[in-house]
Amino acid sequence: MKKIDKTKWVPKLRDPVKIGHQEEVMVFPFHNKKVTSISMKPPIFEISQFLTDIECDHLISYAKRLGLEESPLAKSDHLIDDETSERTFKIWDNNDDGFIEPAEIMHVRGKEDLYFTEEDLLEMFKELDMDKDVDGKISFEEFSKVTVPAMKEYFDKVRRTKPRLRSRNSRQVWMFHNDPKYPILSDFHGRLSRLSLLPEEFINNTEPLQVVKYDVHGHYHCHYDSDELDRKLPCCTFSREDDCRLCRFATVLIYLNNPKIGGETAFPLAGNESYSAEAWEKGEGWKCNLAQNCHKSNLVVKPEKGKAILWYNHFLDEKTGWLGMLDPLAQHGGCDVIEGTKWVANLWLTLVGEPDTGDAFKGWIDHGKDELMFQPGTNWRGETIKTDDEKEKDKEIKEVKKEEESENRFKKENMEDKEKKIEDAKTESSDGSYDVKLEL
Ligand code: OGA
Ligand code: CA
Ligand code: FE2
Repeated sequence: MKKIDKTKWVPKLRDPVKIGHQEEVMVFPFHNKKVTSISMKPPIFEISQFLTDIECDHLISYAKRLGLEESPLAKSDHLIDDETSERTFKIWDNNDDGFIEPAEIMHVRGKEDLYFTEEDLLEMFKELDMDKDVDGKISFEEFSKVTVPAMKEYFDKVRRTKPRLRSRNSRQVWMFHNDPKYPILSDFHGRLSRLSLLPEEFINNTEPLQVVKYDVHGHYHCHYDSDELDRKLPCCTFSREDDCRLCRFATVLIYLNNPKIGGETAFPLAGNESYSAEAWEKGEGWKCNLAQNCHKSNLVVKPEKGKAILWYNHFLDEKTGWLGMLDPLAQHGGCDVIEGTKWVANLWLTLVGEPDTGDAFKGWIDHGKDELMFQPGTNWRGETIKTDDEKEKDKEIKEVKKEEESENRFKKENMEDKEKKIEDAKTESSDGSYDVKLEL
């Protein structure tokens, strides 16, 4: 194989040419497969049978053995946090007519990570006793009587009891794909390299593979897989911590089974030439609710066992040839599974290094660290995977602890206060002027 000069290597982008364009790529050794362009903006490609049926089954059973855990919340705006009722009301009353109607809140994206249906909102009005005059809409007067903590508590409850309303409703597990002792699939990196035109060495060093399972009502409303370019922030190299950004240049998503009905991958903005963020939010942002509006998207990809799709989340920076701005049209998500289950595997191709510093192939994490290697029942940080019940218990224990701590602090302060009073009293009585009794 040709040796790659790390200092000169720059990332390449597969050219889609035009929609429907097909290119023969030798994905398996001596075995060509067609790579079909299904979108120009962003460039998206589809390739059937990228994995064999046996390989898909293998990944699913390996994922089950490792143990899946609930996918974390998507990053979202918390529109009621620390806001006054007035400000929150203004945001929710989308059409400024002085009333909040269910249709308006349904279309505000990402509210507390929940996407309500009209029926669920009417239920919320009832449970929070918001709609005092029962006219199906909320005036400011009605709204201002509901406290923010009560609303937050209600949203927490809904997230727990109605996961179908969450922006992301799935279970997942991370798995290493680059432990030479345990290759998960043969020539996996070679295949990915020939598909993505990125060197194998680079793919070796990217993130762990994420395997995701969606049940009925499982979905992932539209989102970006990566973060906006911000040269002040370093790229994440371990997990998404607060002081770094995701630099996921491209995504390879592989379907591991055939869901009975639903579970498509949707790109609501693919090919949209006149996109503006503000107009989108106000106008057609509701298309991002993929539990309800999957087929309103510009591009909808049907899941088929073994099929892979590849797309680019970022532009290439013309000057550096390296990771550029986030492509706003790369927004996408997974539609509701209506019948059956859906399994996918995500491999994010992260451009963490920089060419001029000579660390172009810098990896996502320091691989090979034994303590990070997977054991069944642990996640990719080596932590034990907990069931939802166990997590709930942990939360309760934490809360009890917090209460105890604050009680102790209160007692301590009280004690100090009393001690001080005794001291004061002593000083005063040593003057011989008072005789003070203190209740302790
Ligand atoms: C994701 C994703 C789409 C799908 O996991 O980031 O966008 O079809 N999934 O499951
Ligand atoms: Ca209104
Ligand atoms: Fe995604």
